[in-house]
Amino acid sequence: MKILVLNGPNLGRLDLRDSKIYGDLDFAGLSKFVVASGDELGLVCDVRQSDSEVEMISWLHEAADQKTPVIINPAAFTHYSYAIRDAADLVHAPLIEVHLSNPMSREEFRHTSVISGVANGTIAGFGPDSYRLALIAIAGLLKGDK
Ligand code: DQA
Repeated sequence: MKILVLNGPNLGRLDLRDSKIYGDLDFAGLSKFVVASGDELGLVCDVRQSDSEVEMISWLHEAADQKTPVIINPAAFTHYSYAIRDAADLVHAPLIEVHLSNPMSREEFRHTSVISGVANGTIAGFGPDSYRLALIAIAGLLKGDK
């Protein structure tokens, strides 16, 4: 089963971001980790990153049309993009929101997610393991465990 793993703005430049918040992996390293974690669960991860709201929306439409499960780290879009929220709401396969950091322990503007309300769940604060835990959750949802 294919899973779309979508990453929003600036996650492509993890190499430049604060490693105390985002850890030591660059985006290529994070992608490798996600693909390997998917392999262990029999899930094929198509990992993508975009700084463009338009492109993220088109990928969510693709997931909606193809009924593909989604893991999404919307990055800063999390906090204000109603357009991405509405696109995520069109996906009727499992959709899990993830964050490397724990936005609730950071600046106040990060405490709001406009995406959480249309996700099956949110996993935040575990670094790359947030993605691995989301894959485990998706595997469970696909098996009908939950
Ligand atoms: C993030 C948290 C967001 O607040 C931030 O804008 C990001 C990354 C995370 O993965 O911790 O770009 O989504």
